[in-house]
Amino acid sequence: MVNLIKLKYREKFMSKKIAILCSGGDVSGMNPALKRFVEYAKEKNLTPYFVYNGYEGLIDNKIKEASYCDVAGIITRGGTKIGSARSSRFMQASFRKIAKSNLDTLGIDMLIVLGGDGSFRGLNTFYKEHGIKFCGIPSTIDNDITGTDYCLGVDTALNIIKSSIDAIRDTASSFSRAFVVETMGRECGYLALVTHLTSGSELCLIPEKAYNLKEYEDKFKKEMLNGRRYFISIVAEGIEQNSQEIADWFENAIGIEARVNELGHIQRGGNPSVYDRLMAYEFVSYAIDGLLNNKNTSIICYSKNGFIYREIKEVAGIKKELDPELLSYLN
Ligand code: F6P
Repeated sequence: MVNLIKLKYREKFMSKKIAILCSGGDVSGMNPALKRFVEYAKEKNLTPYFVYNGYEGLIDNKIKEASYCDVAGIITRGGTKIGSARSSRFMQASFRKIAKSNLDTLGIDMLIVLGGDGSFRGLNTFYKEHGIKFCGIPSTIDNDITGTDYCLGVDTALNIIKSSIDAIRDTASSFSRAFVVETMGRECGYLALVTHLTSGSELCLIPEKAYNLKEYEDKFKKEMLNGRRYFISIVAEGIEQNSQEIADWFENAIGIEARVNELGHIQRGGNPSVYDRLMAYEFVSYAIDGLLNNKNTSIICYSKNGFIYREIKEVAGIKKELDPELLSYLN
């Protein structure tokens, strides 16, 4: 009886501990998410903890209580103040055991993970072995996570790409050249496709759609005869050919000088857009609310119908298909 009263007292007055970590490729929107995490956790009488450098920090016990001071002024900054990493050690059971014991020692029993599919696969294994309560927030510029239409960071990345292409257009049109602009996204062509549809480019090549450059030759040559002075083409990093080969094709088959621009990691950085700040706010709010309402094994997904909690087994390790409607616009 006395023990039961003690337990009830503890439950009522002792603050529960919740941790957050960022894993895999960083995205703009992680810092706004960290800010919301600290503020909303405290509002809900939880003690917030930061795990530094992703799963690596979980293994190395780089876990510290987070304060309002830690998140002051970070909402405008890309990247993540607490660092991110791809951890090969976390793929080994022995290191996951250490990670769990570090959480146990601190009395942390809820974990929020911002990351992509690889991070969620690791999280799923961690949960199956150790029964940790968690919530995942899809965060990758690749937008390649099954079950969600949107991953944190995508809007900022698209806006960075947009500004780059607008600038490239200036020089392309002045200098009568073809530009091959390569976007990130691993095996997923989402960034390239949305960029194509919103930048007025002439060509878009993505892994999800087979192409034959020959089919563009007559059209492009005719356009040049009719006065076209430059081309912009958007190429996803996951296609089979490399960007230089596409540039060579412009020079040899179309007859226009060509340059390659591999946008690279600028796509991952920059001041988070308003949309990513808002999505960070909502993703984190849903994550904490879910954990407080026994949604202990889920990923927060977002679709046209709003936010939804999906079981991790419905999400992790399942190849995402590109939105067929978007794909149908590519001809
Ligand atoms: O997954 C995010 C991403 O930026 C991919 O688009 C890209 O292929 C990869 O990470 C780059 O990884 P790294 O930062 O290790 O070079």
